[in-house]
Parts: sequence; C-alpha cells; structure tokens
Amino acid sequence: MNISDTEVIKAKYNKKASSYDMALGPMEKMMMGKWRKILCSRANGLVLEAGVGTGANLAHYPEDNNIEKVIGIDFSPKMLEVAKRKVSLAKVPVQLLEADIQSLPFEDNIFDTIITACVFCSVPDPVLGFKELRRVIKPNGSLFLLEHVRSEGIFLGPLMDRLNPLSVKFGGVNINRRTEKNIKLSGMEIISNDPLFKDIVKLLTVSPNK
Ligand SMILES: C[S@@+](CC[C@H](N)C(=O)[O-])C[C@H]1O[C@@H](n2cnc3c(N)ncnc32)[C@H](O)[C@@H]1O
Repeated sequence: MNISDTEVIKAKYNKKASSYDMALGPMEKMMMGKWRKILCSRANGLVLEAGVGTGANLAHYPEDNNIEKVIGIDFSPKMLEVAKRKVSLAKVPVQLLEADIQSLPFEDNIFDTIITACVFCSVPDPVLGFKELRRVIKPNGSLFLLEHVRSEGIFLGPLMDRLNPLSVKFGGVNINRRTEKNIKLSGMEIISNDPLFKDIVKLLTVSPNK
C-alpha cells in the first residue's frame, strides 16, 4: 500500500464530508435509495459495512434479517462524524469505527456479511482492500457490493480512462476501476453480477472462496 496515496484520498473525503450528502441528494432520490434498500436487504448476522461514509445505508438495514450488528468503518474521521448523526435512524445495532479497509483491525473469519456501496472507486490499493475483506469474512459468508466500474463500451470505456485523472484529482474517485478483475485478483469469486445502470453500476455477490 502506498501510504501517501491513502493520505491524499482520505484528505479529499475529509474535505467533502460536510457537503457529501447534499451533493448526493438528487441521485439518492432518483436511484441510489432504491439500490441501497436492495443491497442492505441481503445482510445478516455480524455485518461489516466497509467505507460506511456518511452512513447513507444505515437506515436501510432491515430489522427482520437476523442482523446481530453492523460495524461501519471508514478511514475518514469527518465522514464518520456525519454518519454518527444517522445511527439513531438505524433499525439494527450499529457501531462506527475509524479504520482502513487495506489494513483492518479485525481477526480472521469473523463477519457473516460484508457490504460496500461506491467504495472501491476510492480505495487506493483495491486488490489489497479485497484481500483484507476476504481475510475477515467467514468461509461461508457473503459480500454484497454496489459499485460503479469502468464501462466496456468502445467509446465510454476509453472516455472514462481519459477523464479519470481529473476525477481522481478533484474528487478522489476513480471512474475507470476494473472492480470485477480486482475481486478475482484477491482470490474471491463473483457469484452474481447484476447490472443496475448500463454496464457501469453493478450489484455484485461475491464468495470469499476459501
Ligand atoms: C464515495 S464514498 C461512499 C460512502 C458510502 N458508502 C455511500 O454509499 O454513500 C467512499 C467512501 O469510502 C471511504 N474509503 C475509501 N477508501 C477507504 C479505505 N481504504 N478505508 C476506509 N474507507 C475508505 C471514503 O472515506 C468514503 O467515505
């Protein structure tokens, strides 16, 4: 892991934390809210939400899914500050923790479910991040990932490659991540890959394959 890349991306999220929810507003109403509900309905047991951000998923975890607790981690203390205000909206027990996905403070094989939403566009070393998620999930656990990825379209894919440096510079967001490839490189297996918007936004179900 490149420490300075991590500090740069973390600083970007610290900076935009107070305006993050407002920026997300229209998207949240149009589609993200619906997708978050689908995503969180898959969770059960002890849940790790990696990159919990400002806690936009917290209210969507269902109370009737046998969820023991959701541990939401993020490396941005400012994003977590905003998330703290949403804990009371959750119908399940929630604990928030400052931690880096690339180096998690948990023992091996403890989580039943891992949830991420729009996180692996920002994790500085995504393969290392996925290896850490694989380490902490139980062998029979599942990962459910709502992620945007690079389009394979012949125009859109190269356009995303061109625009990516700007997106990283201004937002800390890679718009051309090949997330499915990164998952496979970490040793995990994609069980289902459901497109939610074109071939860009996907709901991935992943098995740790261990
Ligand atoms: C685009 S935001 C998404 C936040 C939230 N999941 C949502 O759906 O609104 C990406 C989040 O991932 C976090 N993040 C990125 N890399 C991380 C890392 N290595 N460890 C922990 N959190 C990370 C950022 O701080 C940010 O809160």
